[in-house]
Amino acid sequence: MRQSGHGPIGVFDSGVGGLTVLKALMEHLPHESTVYLGDTARVPYGTKSGEVVTRYSLKNAEFLLERGIKVLVVACNTASAAALPALEAALPVPVVGVIQPGARAALARTRGGGVGVIGTPGTVRSGAYQRELAAGDPRVRVKARACPLFVPLAEEGWTTGDVPLLTAREYLGEFARDGVDTLVLGCTHYPLLKGVIAEVVGPDVALVDSAEATAEAVVALLTRQGLLAPANGPAPSHAYYVTDVPERFTEVGARFLGRSIPTAEQVDLKF
Ligand code: DGL
Repeated sequence: MRQSGHGPIGVFDSGVGGLTVLKALMEHLPHESTVYLGDTARVPYGTKSGEVVTRYSLKNAEFLLERGIKVLVVACNTASAAALPALEAALPVPVVGVIQPGARAALARTRGGGVGVIGTPGTVRSGAYQRELAAGDPRVRVKARACPLFVPLAEEGWTTGDVPLLTAREYLGEFARDGVDTLVLGCTHYPLLKGVIAEVVGPDVALVDSAEATAEAVVALLTRQGLLAPANGPAPSHAYYVTDVPERFTEVGARFLGRSIPTAEQVDLKF
């Protein structure tokens, strides 16, 4: 067992999207070191089969385990939907996904029981949110829709202006008519487009992303298992790895993370 209060928190996603979760983790856990892996050579995950996404996820986890992580945060809904049981079975450290925290946050927010879920084709097709929401409250009405173009827009950093706005109108117009009062951003890339999404669905629809709720779940887990880094320990470090050239990742990522990403090292996961 590699678990100890001194190891970093490992986080992975297919690209920049998981930084939305990392940001919340850094805010909730300022003393923790982190290691982030963006599998930018293989993004997008959302249009691939569950089997392939599981294979990629296990590779990502293996890489992060070699960096001595004490917990793995799967900061990707597609990977959480496809690979959580496989990761839990394979890893010697606890694993936290984003779907259960996101679904719980949505149930806490909805007033009328109409919950919309937007995500990648893989996440929507898996039915993971639909199941999790129904398990939490069987009366809830769920309307789910895949929005695959949001991921490349976020990866490009193209998050404002006509193109993302028209794309959001095309995908989300129907939610406004369907009695949905809460919309789950069921892909960690989507909070980068929160501005245009909010503009299309209007002020009466609450937007829920799983970043906050996931960070709270990680705090609870580390506390319960006695794995929190000591507040008076060495200053935390934050390392970033990508599987393709790092330029766009560091640029878009820093803008979103609200802190600079001085370097992201390109690594070859040897598939
Ligand atoms: N950010 C990921 C998610 O939450 C995956 C996006 C993708 O690679 O398609 O689903």
